[in-house]
Amino acid sequence: MKKLNVAIIGQGRSGKNIHGVYFRSADNLYYDVKYVVDAEEYRRGVAEELHPGCKTFSDYRELFIFDDIDLVVNATYSEMHYPITRDL
Ligand SMILES: NC(=O)c1ccc[n+]([C@@H]2O[C@H](COP(=O)([O-])OP(=O)(O)OC[C@H]3O[C@@H](n4cnc5c(N)ncnc54)[C@H](O)[C@@H]3O)[C@@H](O)[C@H]2O)c1
Repeated sequence: MKKLNVAIIGQGRSGKNIHGVYFRSADNLYYDVKYVVDAEEYRRGVAEELHPGCKTFSDYRELFIFDDIDLVVNATYSEMHYPITRDL
């Protein structure tokens, strides 16, 4: 079965340690984390190790050129949820 392509924005406690843990677990049969966005370079590097093959970016607007994203996890700061989701 084809997996759904996921982009995670934010690699803090929520994006890495809650959502990311699920996506990396044996329970995840349906999702492939293909894109990860975080403002911090170090966190992007960690994401590349945790989700081998994913592409990483510092700005979520860099996702706009891709047409294969099925699901976005917006794990940025709460005040960014609305403006980022609106832009997406
Ligand atoms: N921490 C928890 O246990 C928990 C549980 C459920 C929900 N949440 C929610 O998840 C959201 C994130 O919380 P957190 O605890 O993961 O925060 P965090 O500070 O641990 O991580 C946020 C990450 O998002 C990145 N980020 C923020 N804005 C960005 C932007 N515009 N572009 C790129 N990267 C950006 C930061 O660099 C950071 O790595 C909040 O809305 C919070 O309420 C947190």
